[in-house]
Amino acid sequence: MHDPEAFIRANTVIAALPSVPEIRLHLADEVTDLWNKTETDLESLGLPPPFWAFAWVGGQGIARYLLDHPARIAGHKVLDFACGSGLVGIAAMKAGALRVDAVDIDPFAIAATMLNAALNGVTIHATREDVIGTDQGWDIILAGDVFYERDMVARVTPWLAALAARGALVLIGDPRRSFLPSVHLTELAAYEIATTRAIEDSDTKRSFVFRVDNPEISADPG
Ligand SMILES: C[S@@+](CC[C@H](N)C(=O)[O-])C[C@H]1O[C@@H](n2cnc3c(N)ncnc32)[C@H](O)[C@@H]1O
Repeated sequence: MHDPEAFIRANTVIAALPSVPEIRLHLADEVTDLWNKTETDLESLGLPPPFWAFAWVGGQGIARYLLDHPARIAGHKVLDFACGSGLVGIAAMKAGALRVDAVDIDPFAIAATMLNAALNGVTIHATREDVIGTDQGWDIILAGDVFYERDMVARVTPWLAALAARGALVLIGDPRRSFLPSVHLTELAAYEIATTRAIEDSDTKRSFVFRVDNPEISADPG
């Protein structure tokens, strides 16, 4: 298995999520049991778990928020950081973003994002790239469910704070995982999201959308 696109097509079904019915994605289903398959089939090939085959509750929350608040995103240059399936970036384009760059370190996530963008009739500029620490002038940075691993959190947190400090709108979607940093976040929305026990410990989770605050701006009403 060397062709990500062929693998994705063969091991997923096209479905829409109850929280974001406007968008269809190539997703793992219970029949293919892709998460467990990874450990046997993919790990032997040195490939990471298929994060891209699931819409994580953090990403679903941001996607719902953008579709419900298009004025926040319309006309802006956006980064979908750690795009996975591409759900967040697709929602941004559907909500009227000028351009969406999507990045992930997993080549399967890039292939999935391209496939899913085409499925939904939007253009996303997806690249396999580690952009942590860089600034390409994005107006808005979207980070869906990225606070799940200590090392990544340690790198991502100061970077997102720096982008917010220079005036970018930085939105985080997260179900309050244990590594979520507690400083300078304003809760903008909360959603009850259906998920799967293949990747979570319950059938639904409450997902929050937070804005990373510029510490120098104290009286922003949100
Ligand atoms: C839990 S998934 C979230 C995917 C998507 N944002 C969502 O909400 O459905 C986390 C993603 O982070 C990606 N990732 C991990 N480290 C990264 C890095 N340094 N730069 C970009 N993506 C990274 C993983 O490959 C994975 O696709």
